[in-house]
Amino acid sequence: MLAIFCARAPDVKLMTPEIIHSKNFVNDAVAMIEREADIAIFERGEFRLALSGGNTPRPVYEALAKHRDAWGKWVFTFGDERCVPPESAESNFRMAKEALFDKVPIPTENILRVRGEADPADAAREYEDTLRQRAGGQSIYRHDLLLLGMGDDGHTASLFPETDALTVTDRWVVENFVPKFNTHRITMTYPLLNAARHVCFLVNSKGKDEVLKEVFSGHSAFPCASVRPTEGNLTWFLGA
Ligand code: 6PG
Repeated sequence: MLAIFCARAPDVKLMTPEIIHSKNFVNDAVAMIEREADIAIFERGEFRLALSGGNTPRPVYEALAKHRDAWGKWVFTFGDERCVPPESAESNFRMAKEALFDKVPIPTENILRVRGEADPADAAREYEDTLRQRAGGQSIYRHDLLLLGMGDDGHTASLFPETDALTVTDRWVVENFVPKFNTHRITMTYPLLNAARHVCFLVNSKGKDEVLKEVFSGHSAFPCASVRPTEGNLTWFLGA
């Protein structure tokens, strides 16, 4: 089934999220990413893409590796990272490296890795400093497209229910202790997520329908429901 992409003028703020059901999830997601890349590179000379972790995006990244060219203008960041070394099987960076970075010519300086191996507070501060340096004089680093997943507890990035990072308003990236895993994660915060020109949730696994139903009701306390781009678009891209 061909997904119906809502045509939009650049930066026209959609008052309601765009919800796309796709039976061709991977290919349609790649098409959406490539379209955003073309727009960003045409308009601003680079494509700032934030990758999400977990399992859902891996096949999308693998398909993206067949993307045509102009990789030199893509700048990759990570919405969150586990506090593990980059070679760990848990590392979101490692997943992206295996699925995409090892297959295409992306300048090393355009892959902004979170140092999961470092002290969490240091890694978070360092990552935020890096984004400030790359913000091009803007008051906040604006992603052109920010990919997110959603857990079955309604978390996104590493903004888990009842964790401290949910209330942070003066930082772009923080360390966040997650009791359910008894460990810290590094995560982008709502101010940074909501500064994006386009946020797209990729959800393609069973067992999340009830959470999605509540999120779409407009009355949800789930962390993912608080992702609302201030001057941007929000898309929920769902496997049919
Ligand atoms: C992570 C992700 C996390 C993920 C959700 C959904 O580091 O695990 O950033 O937020 O997107 O947990 O994961 P799945 O796609 O595997 O369901």
